Amino acid sequence: MNTADTIAIEQNLEIPTYDKMPMALVRGEGPYVWDAEGTRYLDFYGGHCVSLLGHCHPNVVEALQAQAETLIFYSNVAHSPIRARAAQRLAALAPDGLGNVFFANSGSEANETALKLARKYTGRSGVMAMKGGWHGRTLGSLAPTHDEKYRAPYADVLPETTWVSVGDLDAAEAVLSSEGIAAVILEPIQSIAGMREVPAGYVQGLRALCDKHGTLLIFDEVQTGVGRTGTFSMSEPLGATPDLITLAKSLGAGVPVSGVLVDDAVAETVETGDQGSTFGGGMLAMAAVEATLKTLVEDNLMTRATEIHEQVAAQVGPVVEEVQGRGCLMGLTLDRPIAPVVKALRTQGVLVGGSSDPHVMRLMPPLVVSNEDVTAFAEALHVALDATATPAEAH
Ligand SMILES: Cc1ncc(COP(=O)(O)O)c(C=O)c1O
Repeated sequence: MNTADTIAIEQNLEIPTYDKMPMALVRGEGPYVWDAEGTRYLDFYGGHCVSLLGHCHPNVVEALQAQAETLIFYSNVAHSPIRARAAQRLAALAPDGLGNVFFANSGSEANETALKLARKYTGRSGVMAMKGGWHGRTLGSLAPTHDEKYRAPYADVLPETTWVSVGDLDAAEAVLSSEGIAAVILEPIQSIAGMREVPAGYVQGLRALCDKHGTLLIFDEVQTGVGRTGTFSMSEPLGATPDLITLAKSLGAGVPVSGVLVDDAVAETVETGDQGSTFGGGMLAMAAVEATLKTLVEDNLMTRATEIHEQVAAQVGPVVEEVQGRGCLMGLTLDRPIAPVVKALRTQGVLVGGSSDPHVMRLMPPLVVSNEDVTAFAEALHVALDATATPAEAH
């Protein structure tokens, strides 16, 4: 099926919830994807921050093929060796004390699980979240998502959330003192908001405030987790360990799976029936998790994430105002709206992402891009910037 036919059929049959790029992808390998007509794209968008190991990594493909021939799925009513091994890998990489795992299917579901566990543990219902934060679109995860555009139409049914500005510990103290707050949820790097980094001292301060007021701290690491930022969790660079960490996008290197890492004290209080998910912990997803985490560690890809960041920063430095984020979760601040630049990059065969900040372009490349891929991206960016400059700016 060619691109035009694919687009026409999807537009006809799917409800129009997405603003899709005008292309239809049929194949992927490493950092590249191809459309039906054979056009190749260098994927610095990572399929929306998902493709941690590049597309169709052979280790993941092999693990999926082997598992598909053995047992595709059985639910959590039965134990499973592949689930046990995936949990072992995850627990080994988790920050100390957070080696208790719940498997789910999406970032939203992981966040809802974390919020439910916090409510149960504390016996409270309030949530404090950050202005600019994004946590998902199902009703439970939408509640702490800050963007009015997505939340306002459902405000009447969403659990109560209080938002504070990132960095403002006085505001946080005021909210947490009011009692009734079960959890504070934050993204250690606010990705969709424009790759805004959260100051290290702030998170340590939040940790202390949460301890003081008996509130749980949740890191939404749906984007930052699984090594993309150079460490498995942002708790290491931030010097503060939360009570719960949610993981999704990169966890299965493309296979839908999410997880919640749960602190020992919280895990001890969890009882049968507190949470559940038919497909959570399914065998195919678990095979992907095991292969992904094994490859991440054995190929030393967390170190590579940091190298890629440094290479990108060095090569785009002269033409962008700022490079934000860490590892392979980067925000490039441009001196102009990024929309035409993103388009110009696509016409050169390079995919990147936008953000809620019209001047911030998001890069979420796989941790397997080569030095040559980084150079190709930087050269394409220079061309795109020249092509979108006003005549006065062109050089
Ligand atoms: C930080 C963060 N949390 C949660 C989510 C929701 O994840 P999902 O779309 O898998 O439900 C997203 C999605 O982009 C996200 O970026």
